[in-house]
Amino acid sequence: MKKTKLNELKDKCLNCCKCELGKTRNNIVFADGNPDTAKAILIGEAPGENEDKTGIPFVGRAGKLLNEFLENAGISRENDLYIINTVKCRPPQNRVPSDKEKELCSEYLLKQIEIVDPKIIIFCGATALKSFYPKKTPISKIRGEVLDLKVGNNTEIRKCIPIFHPSYLLRYHSLEEGSPRDLMLKDLKKIKLLMNN
Ligand code: URA
Repeated sequence: MKKTKLNELKDKCLNCCKCELGKTRNNIVFADGNPDTAKAILIGEAPGENEDKTGIPFVGRAGKLLNEFLENAGISRENDLYIINTVKCRPPQNRVPSDKEKELCSEYLLKQIEIVDPKIIIFCGATALKSFYPKKTPISKIRGEVLDLKVGNNTEIRKCIPIFHPSYLLRYHSLEEGSPRDLMLKDLKKIKLLMNN
């Protein structure tokens, strides 16, 4: 049922040319994960080169690092998550998607949230956070906090948790207490607990 609705939505995306990104993409990057079993939707920034080539989110260097963290936290990428981005097409030179691009693409993202109807939404990085959280709090200050927000077309309040983006973690290798990688693992373990409650 969810898969049928999502496939219909994907078909709509395949023909989308609402913004300039539609002119340069090779592939729409619609989603990854199992909508029937996912307990959380993870929202990243935008597809990069590898994602544009494959049509799958988070398959490049950042994605591989994300996979390692998920595994260490006991979260199954295949079963526990449904992974999407703020926009479905790669911005040229991997620039940050504009507010207009995000707004035009939000029709699809909000519909995905409505269909999957997850209990938890993970804002992976500052771009995803800014798209849904009105205050200008830096991700470093707010990561790991559980925010009760109305996200999506239905009025339901969902548990929304900002986490660092894995691209940021590629620059910091320390695992020391309080380091970005340490905090990322702690945040994901907290999310794993919330998934089971
Ligand atoms: N970074 C993102 O934010 N999303 C992807 O899909 C890949 C890299």
